[in-house]
Amino acid sequence: SLYFSSIEALLKISNSFLGLDQNLDRQIHQLSGGQLQLVNLASVLILRPKLILLDEPTSQLDPPTAQHFLTVLGRINQELGITIMLTEHRLSTVAAMANRMILLQDYHLTFDGDPHSGLAKMATDAHLTYFVPSIPKLFLDQQIRTSQLPISVADAQSAIRTHHLQFQSVTTGGKVAQLPPAEKPILTVNNISFSFDGQHNVLHHLNLAINPGTWLAIIGKNGSGKSTLLTLICGLMTPQHGKIRFVHQLVWKMAINQRMAKLAFLSQTPRLQFTADTVREELEVQAAELRLPDAKAQVDHMINQFHLNRIEKQNPFDISGGQQQLVGLAIALMATPDLLVLDEPTKGLDPYTKIQVGNLLKQYQQAGMTIVIASHDMEFCAKFADKCTFMFDGHLNTLLATQSFFADNFFFTTPINRIARDQVKDALLPVDLKLANHPERG
Ligand SMILES: Nc1ncnc2c1ncn2[C@@H]1O[C@H](COP(=O)(O)OP(=O)(O)OP(=O)(O)O)[C@@H](O)[C@H]1O
Ligand SMILES: [Mg+2]
Repeated sequence: SLYFSSIEALLKISNSFLGLDQNLDRQIHQLSGGQLQLVNLASVLILRPKLILLDEPTSQLDPPTAQHFLTVLGRINQELGITIMLTEHRLSTVAAMANRMILLQDYHLTFDGDPHSGLAKMATDAHLTYFVPSIPKLFLDQQIRTSQLPISVADAQSAIRTHHLQFQSVTTGGKVAQLPPAEKPILTVNNISFSFDGQHNVLHHLNLAINPGTWLAIIGKNGSGKSTLLTLICGLMTPQHGKIRFVHQLVWKMAINQRMAKLAFLSQTPRLQFTADTVREELEVQAAELRLPDAKAQVDHMINQFHLNRIEKQNPFDISGGQQQLVGLAIALMATPDLLVLDEPTKGLDPYTKIQVGNLLKQYQQAGMTIVIASHDMEFCAKFADKCTFMFDGHLNTLLATQSFFADNFFFTTPINRIARDQVKDALLPVDLKLANHPERG
């Protein structure tokens, strides 16, 4: 009833602030993730709050949509004077907008102050340094003295101009190592089309070949069809046209046990895959379904590997979103599959855990596993994937080496690439750059 009493106000807010005017007549289930978040925000604004609390509001949004959502929040704060308090794992944009930052560690508040000094302090802590976004990290690592530590792309660009900073490339060498190209693809997607309703195609004549041992990242806007494609690849749905082969076999004709052992899937909502009463049981159920000969040992191994010891007796529905993500990953890796398909694997993971998970997956890859992920996390893809491809409206672009993919992309790229691309075209992360001149070194 609150909605209806102030429908006029809702319309005003929707039109003027959130850019929802095009969508007012659409049904909720037709909206993209980003549009849904804006509708949520509109319905909160209707109550004319003094304070809005948001729990990781952009974790499921593609980069441009996340940016738009945060810009709207910034206007709500600046123009309507509403206090905004939010939690985030990816701090690069929000830390630049916030004027106060609070740090929670082991249930204690360990910092409360302005983000610039907060980040500088975090950089001195072995664990917290992972939380420092890449722009301030670059300035701190290279000991570039500025009156205020830059956090946003614009502040960094201005510091580069003011201090005449010149960067040069650091060749890490990690990305250039290539597998011999002659191998047969482990997965071949041949001219598939798929529609949920028999009318509108979500995927159109899509082709994809993945070589064994690759780590491929699929990047794209909300609603572009990434999850649909991954679900089809794992044989959980069947396309109306075309074929998907795992080596030589059609995925939907593989026996379920065999498919589960060779081709593992982590859904975008891992919770939907849970059935047991405790985390340990959840893993045991999976081990039993896979008929693993050393089930108990493998369950223990996974619990240790993902540091689940503290939560192994808890109900998987009662643990945090990030913990659910780790349990989902442990389940997916249980059988050491040949092909690991992960939908938004870093969602909800703090930056430290995310790097640990990335390194762990890299070890599996180096032992021969092929990995395909869909992700909105540009820095994670930049750090770990060998190849990237852009999904647009049910099509996939050509697979590119990670550095060329980001160097050629304007909206879907990393903050470091944004500030440094004029000087070093394919720099993606702080480790890719070092200062070539020493104008203001401390
Ligand atoms: N079960 C479903 N029934 C009908 N339509 C669906 C269903 N699941 C997804 N869609 C639609 O299919 C399209 C592609 O959705 P999909 O989830 O594959 O996108 P995505 O690229 O994974 O998006 P996101 O980045 O938000 O995860 C969207 O328009 C979506 O609304
Ligand atoms: Mg998705």
